Amino acid sequence: MAVSVNINGQDYNLDVPADTPLLWAIRDNLQLTGTKFGCGLAQCGACTVHMAGQPIRSCVTPISAIVGQQITTIEGIESKAADLIQAAWEKLEVPQCGYCQSGQIMAASALLANNASPSDADIDAAMSGNICRCATYVRIRQAIKDAATALNEVA
Ligand code: FES
Ligand code: FES
Repeated sequence: MAVSVNINGQDYNLDVPADTPLLWAIRDNLQLTGTKFGCGLAQCGACTVHMAGQPIRSCVTPISAIVGQQITTIEGIESKAADLIQAAWEKLEVPQCGYCQSGQIMAASALLANNASPSDADIDAAMSGNICRCATYVRIRQAIKDAATALNEVA
């Protein structure tokens, strides 16, 4: 069946079954490969994208559930918070192997867009579902804090 979706501000008609995971459509149909497959079970966060600005797990979201919604992937994030998150990631050299990092950045940028001054508990709550096998957690937390500081300076 044809499913109409909006990804990164562009409309697409995808000829896929309604229960196709959004992650499959993003990677295989649209070749947006920045979003990663980790567990396929909503357990690792590697596949995180935004739906209406909120982080969701694209591996367990059927494409039929996003009709009429705005989906943003790592290739399409554009906001002050996202820019500052990515700048802090670069400055602190957060990634190690990099595999989990687009999911981490999607979760962190959604956090900052919703809460410009997150506490440690806020950061833990927002990021606890994003697993990093290279254990870059200390740098992730610092990068979020640095980005929050920068965000409040420009506000
Ligand atoms: S691949 Fe979706 S949460 Fe792990
Ligand atoms: S940087 Fe390697 S899994 Fe996170």
